[in-house]
Amino acid sequence: MKIQIINGPNLNLLGKREPETYGKQTFEDYLTTLKTRFPQVELSYYQSNVEGELINKLHEVGFGFDAIILNAGAYTHTSVALHDAIAAIKTPVVEVHISNVYAREEFRHKSLITSKCIGLITGFGLEGYAMAIQFIQKK
Ligand code: DQA
Repeated sequence: MKIQIINGPNLNLLGKREPETYGKQTFEDYLTTLKTRFPQVELSYYQSNVEGELINKLHEVGFGFDAIILNAGAYTHTSVALHDAIAAIKTPVVEVHISNVYAREEFRHKSLITSKCIGLITGFGLEGYAMAIQFIQKK
């Protein structure tokens, strides 16, 4: 089973960025534990701060992979183009957020992508990515 994880803007700074909200672990570290926990899954990881590059990646993997786990960061709340990219591809997308976006500022309460995703995991820290993999495996 092939799963692509895509992280959006500012998530390259995990570990350094607002650790009270996003934790102290880098994503690279967490990815190592994910690969150990799910050895039967072929996990690929991509991060970009650029909206168009995220769209290009969705197009690239969106017809061949079994699932995509997408944390679009702040583009979640603004990007019609990401909404359209998810609508355009065949591979199902799980939306993940590390923080509980509904417990934060109101501008984070609206996601432009949830309606095109198969589900949403928010507020469980980095563990949300493992929860998404578990869900995809059982599907
Ligand atoms: C985030 C939540 C977004 O509102 C924010 O812009 C992020 C990270 C999360 O994982 O909690 O960059 O997607």
